[in-house]
Formats: sequence, C-alpha cells, structure tokens
Amino acid sequence: MADYVKFFRDTSPYINMHRGKTFVIAVSGDAVLDANFSHIVHDIGLLNSLGIRIVLVHGARPQIEERLARSGLEPTFHNHQRITDEGALVCVKEAVGSTRIAIEAMLSLGLANSPMHGARLRVISGNFITARPVGVRDGIDFHFTGEVRKVDTRGIARQLDDNAVVLLSSLGYSVTGEAFNLTYENVATEAAIALRAEKLILFSADAGVCDANGDLVRLLSLDEVPALLENDALDKTTRTTLAAGLFAGKRGVPRVHIISYCKNGALLEELFTREGEGTLVLHYGQETLRQATLDDVPGLLDIIAPLEEKGVLVKRSRELLEREISRFHLVVDAENVIVACAALYPFSDEDSAELACVATHDDYKNRGFAAKLLAHIEKQALLLGINNLFVLTTQTAHWFLERGFSPSTLDDLPAEKKELYNLKRNSKVFCKKI
Ligand SMILES: CC(C)(COP(=O)(O)OP(=O)(O)OC[C@H]1O[C@@H](n2cnc3c(N)ncnc32)[C@H](O)[C@@H]1OP(=O)(O)O)[C@@H](O)C(=O)NCCC(=O)NCCS
Repeated sequence: MADYVKFFRDTSPYINMHRGKTFVIAVSGDAVLDANFSHIVHDIGLLNSLGIRIVLVHGARPQIEERLARSGLEPTFHNHQRITDEGALVCVKEAVGSTRIAIEAMLSLGLANSPMHGARLRVISGNFITARPVGVRDGIDFHFTGEVRKVDTRGIARQLDDNAVVLLSSLGYSVTGEAFNLTYENVATEAAIALRAEKLILFSADAGVCDANGDLVRLLSLDEVPALLENDALDKTTRTTLAAGLFAGKRGVPRVHIISYCKNGALLEELFTREGEGTLVLHYGQETLRQATLDDVPGLLDIIAPLEEKGVLVKRSRELLEREISRFHLVVDAENVIVACAALYPFSDEDSAELACVATHDDYKNRGFAAKLLAHIEKQALLLGINNLFVLTTQTAHWFLERGFSPSTLDDLPAEKKELYNLKRNSKVFCKKI
C-alpha cells in the first residue's frame, strides 16, 4: 500500500476530532518573516478546508523596529513593555497594517500550481478587539500601549460560522476612537479564552519548550510550567510564549501547543499525528469518571481504533460499540474529551466478568488514569455481585500483574468466554479476585 494511503487513513480520526473546533493560531512578526511562513499559510488553508474554525493572530515586532529605525526613532521600553508615543504609534500602524495585508495576500493565493488552488479562502479582519490604555505605571506613561479590554466573540463567531478565517492584529481600538498597540500574545490568549477555543497554538523559533538539559519537553501539565519559567536558561521569547500558554491554560483553554515556525509541516504533524511535534501544555486535574453514552462513540473510536490497528485491542465494529456502549466506563476531562476507557462484561450466571478495552489517551498516559478507572470498575463489579475479574491481553501483561491480577489459564475462564477465545490472538489470561 502506498505510504500516503496509510498516512491519510491514520489521520482520519484527527480530522474528525478537529472538525468544527475553534483553534487560535498565533504567529509573531518574526514567524511572518521566516522562509517557512508560506508553508504555515498553506497549512492554515488546509485546516480551514477541513472544517476547523481558525482565528489567526499576528504580531509585528521586528517590522515595528524596522520602521522606528527608518524614522530615526529610538524604541523605548519599561519592564520589557514598549512605550508607544505618538511617533511610535505611526510606525506601529504602518508595520501592523502592512503585515496584515501581506498575510491577507498570502491567504488569498489560489494559483493552479499552488497548494491552495481551489481553497477560495475568505479572510476577515476588523475591529473585533476593544483595547484600553495600559496607562501610567511606576510613574511612566505608556501612551498608546494598550491591553485587550474585550473580544467581540459574537462578531468573530459569525465569521467563523461562515467558514472565514478571522485575522486579528496586535492592534485594538478604544471606545474613545483611538488605536492602541497591543502584544499579539495578549490578543491571542484573550481571544482563545473568550472564544472558548479548544486549542491555542503558539509558534516559536524553537521546536517547543526545552528542559534544563536542552531536551524538548513533549508534554507539560499546567502545574509544571511555573518551575520551567524559573529556569534562567530559558530563552526570552520562549519564556514569553510559555507564560502566555500558562495564562491561557489557567483561564480554561484546554490545550496549548508550542511549535516551531521554522520547521516545514510542524503544524500538521502536531495536529494529525499521535507523537506531535512540539510541546503540548495540558490542563490536568479536572477529570471525572462516568458511564459512556452513545454520544461518546466517536471519541471512543479515536482512542481505540489506532490500538485495534496495531493489534493491541480486539477489533470492534462501530455497530458493536454502539450496542455495547453501556458496558463502557470513562474518565473525561473538563471539556468532555475522553481521557481513558474500560469496559466490564459480566458473564451470565456467574460471579465473573471480563475487563476489556482498557486504554488511555496518549496525552494522558502515566498519570494514573487507567489505575483510577480499574478501581472504579472493581467497585461497579462488586455492586453487581461480581467477585472475579478476567482480562485477556497480548501486550500489557505486566500492567495487570502490577495491579493484583494473577496469571490464569483458559480453563479458569467461564465456559461462555472459553468458547469465544480467539486462539490466533494467543492472548494471556489474568484473573483478579475482588
Ligand atoms: C496500559 C494503559 C491502559 C495504561 O494507562 P495509564 O493511564 O498510562 O496507566 P497508569 O498511569 O495507571 O499506569 C502507568 C504505568 O503503567 C506502565 N505501563 C504502561 N503500559 C504498560 C505495559 N504495556 N506493560 C507494563 N506496564 C505498562 C507505565 O510505564 C507506568 O508505569 P510507572 O507508573 O512505573 O511509570 C495504556 O498504556 C494504554 O492505553 N495502552 C494501550 C492499550 C492496552 O494495552 N490496553 C490493555 C489491553 S486490554
């Protein structure tokens, strides 16, 4: 089979998972200047055509610096924050405006030999961000440096409903009719929070966030971020990006991704492969246990289908899953995304049941979720008068051994199950008295 056929099939669970979701994607002015930016734009076009609701936020720091230098103006900062006086504001407007136009032009590309041919992407920018002045701090007047006061979520949602890409700049307008210079991180985080976006994707010069040894950290829980921010070795822009991610995560954005703007295809790899590409900051701690319902079938398939493909779990058709959905118990996160699943199949006329389909979403592995679910299922089983749990596994024997299961034989299985045993799979049998 051609590689692309396999690749395309492997991505289908992600395409289904992302469709109709809102992603806020933030690119710095440096990212816009990078040679790879045209690929990022093409990939954003592709995401839009897959039904993902996209809000693209751009910055313009180097572009502003260049205009200030051309005008002979010294950039002035206080506590790393730009002071935007009247002269600087002219440069800011020019730089932000021309960067926005350049992005709009790139998103409009549709030549027959370009990757965006036929996409007919609609880009909408406007006065979606209301700003207020930062004001006077430590006795210093920041003039036209502002911060986000309000995001017009209804206005943006209407455009997203119409399948447009909404482009937000690092500028906002005040109710007094003035323009204010904002940071693109401020605009992106506030937009992601206000729009209840599923993801905030921040591009950085590095592959993601690296630890003290310089190794890329693939997954971070929100609680781990403050300690990383303390690390002096952390590059300044990565620190700003990570701090923005922490802010958004704390205010309820469930997934923050930090990925490279230099690497061709990093956005697609992050969104459509299990391994990802950069750093994912996740909000742990709000997971709950519950029984599955029919609405959970697509989410369950996202977790178990790849494991079935690999032969780790026994294949179940969608119809079977729908029929047996009440056997499934789940751990779900605050956004109702399935974190882990397991099913309990009681045997008729016996005080035994089979524990099956134990699986944890890749982003949540090694955090005790499967163990929590096992404890929950044991409790449910006891309530049903079940005292023996069986499990058949090919690759996860030790996980069950370490949780009180003992090796058993086919003869220990209830007759009903013995008949159904698939000799070809040659699964090992384990039993636990509860
Ligand atoms: C096995 C699985 C359910 C564990 O999920 P989890 O939520 O990460 O589990 P927990 O956090 O409770 O336990 C993690 C521990 O199990 C270990 N573990 C994970 N998979 C294992 C395996 N195949 N064999 C032995 N130990 C394993 C981890 O190394 C970790 O060990 P540590 O605590 O010493 O670091 C998950 O790895 C998974 O989905 N695997 C694929 C599906 C599968 O094999 N299901 C079982 C067949 S029914």
